[in-house]
Amino acid sequence: MIGVFDSGIGGLTIVRELWRKLSGYRLLYFGDTARTPYGTKSPETIIAYAIQDTEFLLEHGAKIIVIACHSASSVATEALRRRFPEVPIFEVVTPSVKKALQVTRKGVIGVIGTRATISSGIYQRKVAELAPEVKVYGNACPLLVPLVEEGWLKKPETRRIVKKCLIPLKMRGIDTLVLGCTHYPVLKPVIQAKAGKRVTLVDPAEEVAEEVFRYLETHPEIRETLARGEDHAIYVSDLTEAFEKVARLFMGRRVKLLKADCEMSHVIKPNFCAAS
Ligand code: DGL
Repeated sequence: MIGVFDSGIGGLTIVRELWRKLSGYRLLYFGDTARTPYGTKSPETIIAYAIQDTEFLLEHGAKIIVIACHSASSVATEALRRRFPEVPIFEVVTPSVKKALQVTRKGVIGVIGTRATISSGIYQRKVAELAPEVKVYGNACPLLVPLVEEGWLKKPETRRIVKKCLIPLKMRGIDTLVLGCTHYPVLKPVIQAKAGKRVTLVDPAEEVAEEVFRYLETHPEIRETLARGEDHAIYVSDLTEAFEKVARLFMGRRVKLLKADCEMSHVIKPNFCAAS
């Protein structure tokens, strides 16, 4: 299976694209709703959680891993690749950087994301490796996550906060903006309106789905190990009605969430199940 993990439900924006692009492959999703958000946590904590999330997916049959969470992609990718050297691991930052470099006209790119993502400086480092002449400016917009989860997609308050969040980037003259958080693609119309039509938005969900698709085309030995079918499984470490509602918002349709069974895996037991 293709294993996908996120700090919570937001990673379903990535699942939606993977389903579109890779229909026929079974997906296994794990959303760490019991410990969300990751974006406010330290790199050490995010790395520890990301390792456990990956172990859960591998234990349940994943053969490749997609890190849907930008915060985890930003700070935990190297640690995961060191820990699981035999597993192909995809993340959302690199394909977004590549796309941003393709579409920028003036070489001035903006990135919005959680505090963990922006303070990691990962976008600046990746762009410097590939195109040192290009400038990258980041701004953390943590308020957008709860606004999306409350379904406040078109409220005037949301529009005002998006506008405020983009001001420092617009002042730098960005012509390209990376939506560096799982939740932001849901706000695309508002973000586009406030960024202005001359700013090109980069949606990492589309980019990572394309990358996985291309990888599978050229790696038949991995492709053959992946289970086929439409019976996808979406696990969460905590299940509430509110999470189900948010999942519907992200997927554009009703999806069934399964509670990760604490008895099912020795890996998750001491962590997600600590309180029970
Ligand atoms: N999934 C997280 C990300 O993309 C956003 C929510 C959180 O902070 O955990 O960075």
